[in-house]
Amino acid sequence: MIDFELSEEEVLLQDLAAKFTKNEILPVAARYDHEGTFPEEIYKKMYEAGLLNLNIPSRYGGTGLSLLDQCIVIEEMSTGCAGMTTTVAANCLALQPIVIAGTEEQKNKFLNDFTSEYKLASFCLTEPGAGSDAGNLSLSVKRDGDHYILNGTKMFISNAPKASLFTVFGTMDKSLRHKGIVAFVVTRDAEGLTIGKEENKLGHRASATSEVIFDNVRIPADNRLGAEGDGFKIAMRTLDTTRPTIAAMATGVGRAALQYAASYATKRYAFNQPISSFEAIQFKIADIQKEISASRLLTWHAAWLIDKGKKATMESSIAKTFATDAAMHASIEAIQIYGGYGYSKEYPVEKLMRDAKLLQIYEGPNEIQRIVIAKEYLSEYQ
Ligand code: CAA
Repeated sequence: MIDFELSEEEVLLQDLAAKFTKNEILPVAARYDHEGTFPEEIYKKMYEAGLLNLNIPSRYGGTGLSLLDQCIVIEEMSTGCAGMTTTVAANCLALQPIVIAGTEEQKNKFLNDFTSEYKLASFCLTEPGAGSDAGNLSLSVKRDGDHYILNGTKMFISNAPKASLFTVFGTMDKSLRHKGIVAFVVTRDAEGLTIGKEENKLGHRASATSEVIFDNVRIPADNRLGAEGDGFKIAMRTLDTTRPTIAAMATGVGRAALQYAASYATKRYAFNQPISSFEAIQFKIADIQKEISASRLLTWHAAWLIDKGKKATMESSIAKTFATDAAMHASIEAIQIYGGYGYSKEYPVEKLMRDAKLLQIYEGPNEIQRIVIAKEYLSEYQ
């Protein structure tokens, strides 16, 4: 039976995330965005509140949230700051390959660590020469007895400057493309692992992003996730389950844009009336609201399918594309409604536009999502 009502527990969770956002995130979001610094004390408070490691199953000490629950939390927090929420989403993304493909021993070893103390993790797939084309990795992996040796550079890695664990994808034979890819868990203390230049980003400035360099990094074979050659599919299965959280983040950003715009439009007067009384403004508000509602439904549907154990590659990509395009639209229209004030850093809506832009790019740009959607849909006809 289809039921659109949240359970009592989900309402409590939503309230917890909303209160955290109001009390801890919103008061400092603009400052951290302006400074481009990493609000570690906020992430520690998130950890204490159970809002940091959303995807760790309860048998490894985690909160055991469903993906739908995770989306509820992420939507709330991103109404306050998408940058801070990126740190949470990137943490979940990094741990998800272990949740999906780790052995019982690996899960006990690596996931428990994250529930017993505050820690961050990074998902290392993207490289300087391989972003959208994730099958074309160059980070080289050589077997050496009961170890592997990793050489190469990862790029645009969220959380990397602060991470103590990395899930890393490399290739044993580049000519095999995706069939040569293998995944590992690498800890920060691994000799030869260094953190490169930190990005000075347009948005999401409360999150930290940098290169990760592997120079003859020796990894025990026990840290390999799945078999040699399984890495690409582990990455794809991971992204299937995390793209709905990016859609949830976009829904939150869109919501914030609309709330600011609506509040401004009812207070700002032109031609002796509030600008909200003009159809030109009302149509913008209506379009944003309809896209936010659709974004949430698509997001929850994709998450619900995944929680039911069903394949949702297409639905995840639909939610990610629709919601992030909608967030971009909402934030641009919010600036338009604010007029000149919207273009000023004194007001909150320009940050939303800068934050929305990255949502269309990371975890697979929306052009790639459209390729995934078309491929999945057309496969029915083959
Ligand atoms: N689940 C399981 N298996 C999958 C799969 C999925 N969702 N998608 C593909 N596969 C399998 C295919 O079935 C195929 O298997 P076989 O060899 O057995 O036939 C294999 O993987 C190769 O598939 P494709 O031929 O479709 O692969 P491709 O090279 O054409 O690439 C792609 C497909 C969708 C473009 C993929 O490369 C992709 O998703 N690119 C985007 C990468 C991305 O999202 N990066 C994000 C980085 S993380 C980040 O951004 C986070 C951050 O900073 C916060």
